[in-house]
Amino acid sequence: MTSASRIGEVVLEVQDLRTYFVTKWGVVKAVDGLSFYLRKGETLGIVGESGSGKSVTALSITRLVPSPPGHIVGGQVKLMGEDILQFNEREMVKVRGNRIAMVLQDPMTALNPVFDIENQVGEALKIHKHLRGQTLKDSVVDMLRKVRIPAPEIRIRDYPHQLSGGMRQRVVGAIGISCDPEVLIADEPTTSLDATIQAQYLRLLRDLQEETGVGIIFITHDFGIVAKMCDRVAVMYAGKIVEQGNVRQIFNNPSHPYTEALITAVPKMEEKAKRLYAIPGQPPVLWDLPNACAFAPRCPYAFDKCHEEYPPVFEVGDGQLSACWLREGEGAKPVAAGGGASTSAAPTTTTEADD
Ligand SMILES: Nc1ncnc2c1ncn2[C@@H]1O[C@H](COP(=O)(O)OP(=O)(O)OP(=O)(O)O)[C@@H](O)[C@H]1O
Ligand code: SF4
Ligand SMILES: [Mg+2]
Repeated sequence: MTSASRIGEVVLEVQDLRTYFVTKWGVVKAVDGLSFYLRKGETLGIVGESGSGKSVTALSITRLVPSPPGHIVGGQVKLMGEDILQFNEREMVKVRGNRIAMVLQDPMTALNPVFDIENQVGEALKIHKHLRGQTLKDSVVDMLRKVRIPAPEIRIRDYPHQLSGGMRQRVVGAIGISCDPEVLIADEPTTSLDATIQAQYLRLLRDLQEETGVGIIFITHDFGIVAKMCDRVAVMYAGKIVEQGNVRQIFNNPSHPYTEALITAVPKMEEKAKRLYAIPGQPPVLWDLPNACAFAPRCPYAFDKCHEEYPPVFEVGDGQLSACWLREGEGAKPVAAGGGASTSAAPTTTTEADD
């Protein structure tokens, strides 16, 4: 889906983000040294197994980490250059739903059954844009038209149960873009949806991006969806980014064994009837991580050093980063210390695109 012209300046830059939970078992390092960036009009996939820290990343960006037990203990989240981790709660209220919006894949849980569509789509416009009366109504109709709801002037009086599943998704999408956010975060819930609804949802996000140029962070555990949806991808394992780069590069030439395993796990058409590949072993517990490569116990290529020291981040290609000791043996240069594929190498130009 990439086209160079639609990708613009960096809108969000996350640097060395760390979010920990203090639990009775110990300190859970759910997000531990994450760095990545997102450009206007671009879709960045965050992919990883259950528990790898994807949702905590989203909650950290929106400053909605439940506290206690969670604490953002370090890092920066720069929205158009301003570190929103330094914002007070009043300033954050102006960011959430307005400059950074979240859309959930399950439209039933995102919509309130007792309010009509006009009320629900209009809420953020009332709060953030202070619209009222006919102007508000016109804007709601306009939003519904943008997400291609037929006869929006009539449908605004409907309640969620009067709409089809696909239309409800479109309404949730309209709420997401109602204030013209710079960043839209789509956190895919683990519940599996049927293929038709899934495809509709992906098409909706693409439509919204085309319409508004919003930068999208798309969170999933499925590399197959990443390949369809995203321009770049960050692969998370045990609270860290282990590989990132543009999707085509990584899909054709994964440089981290965990990425390789995730790609192998994507079912191919001809393999549908056979048993699906699952990555052997379990992800580690996050309160007792070794000061070494966390993937080592599951990695078919692990050697002594992997169990002794956390790999630094190596640049392995044009913007492709990998935290794996194997890359050192191939002469790749480290660009950041151990702790995940962390680098602040966000492009400063507005014209650069990955492919
Ligand atoms: N409120 C909390 N208290 C303690 N630990 C938490 C809390 N919320 C999340 N965690 C821990 O943080 C880690 C990351 O969780 P997170 O929800 O980000 O995973 P995820 O990658 O989104 O997984 P999934 O694909 O299942 O949604 C997990 O180990 C989880 O147990
Ligand atoms: S650092 Fe070693 S254990 Fe970790 S992914 Fe690379 S080869 Fe495997
Ligand atoms: Mg999650």
